[in-house]
Amino acid sequence: MIKKIIELKEKRKAVIVAHNYQIDNVQEIADVVGDSFALSKYCASNDAKVIVFCGVHFMAESAKILSPEKTVLLPEIDAGCPMADMVTAEALREEKKKYPGAAVVCYINSSAEVKAETDICCTSSNAINVVKAVEEKDVMFVPDMNLGSYVAKMVPEKNVILWKGFCVTHHKIKTDEVKKIKELHPDALLLVHPECRPEIVELADFAGSTKQIIDFANESNNKKFIIGTEMGVLYKLKNNNPDKTFYLMSQGLVCPNMKKTTLKSVYDSLNEMKNVIELDEDIRIRAKKSLDRMLEIK
Ligand code: 13P
Ligand code: SF4
Repeated sequence: MIKKIIELKEKRKAVIVAHNYQIDNVQEIADVVGDSFALSKYCASNDAKVIVFCGVHFMAESAKILSPEKTVLLPEIDAGCPMADMVTAEALREEKKKYPGAAVVCYINSSAEVKAETDICCTSSNAINVVKAVEEKDVMFVPDMNLGSYVAKMVPEKNVILWKGFCVTHHKIKTDEVKKIKELHPDALLLVHPECRPEIVELADFAGSTKQIIDFANESNNKKFIIGTEMGVLYKLKNNNPDKTFYLMSQGLVCPNMKKTTLKSVYDSLNEMKNVIELDEDIRIRAKKSLDRMLEIK
């Protein structure tokens, strides 16, 4: 299967990109594996004709927003992000009426229609810098209330208005479970994604995007880590650091949508050129402004 994918990839002049939460063998065949920010930058800058996006819908959509001339394939077309579905363009238009002077910052985990209604996008790796950079004091932050709370704490000069969305995978982890695993491994550093509840981020030694968590563990002199994000990151963490030990903060840290993509679905989408991401051009142009502003910042 791997050989067939590589042959097809060359024939189609395609690149395969994979998010850090993808299953191990999908990460293995990808040309680049990264967090949302790194992958959107990569898709915007390379000159492949076809991008096979192994991730969830909003990620493939972001690649299409930035590179309309490319064919973007999402191998599993039903791989969505429940958090992204917690805000619609219509609901956001209504809410914006309540805060006419506020800047609208949206987490990249959102649909193109939602991005089109916002001033600037962010990812978990640059959310603090993005909120600091907007001129307005009032900032509507959609849709992740946990990332939004983290940003509000780190940028106290802004008045952050939260949307009530959350990641079902990260939000379900409770403090008691985290305290127990910390007690079991007192010499391990706790590294978490800011999609976790604020009381868990409070307990952590480091909070950051998937890539930032991986980089932190690679560079740290510590030998043991408790990992507070989706279990897919363990693939790189263990490969890069055979001398270090990683404990998953909770066995519940699995995103079912990220686990849908398989080698077979990658092969099928490339072979049949199916599951192509299409966007309304007006929405794409408005959403692109929000993503471009983010890319200008960092
Ligand atoms: P990263 O940008 O940190 O990779 O996160 C994406 C995501 O969906 C986290 O749940
Ligand atoms: Fe969405 Fe959470 Fe899955 Fe990330 S881990 S894709 S935020 S549901």
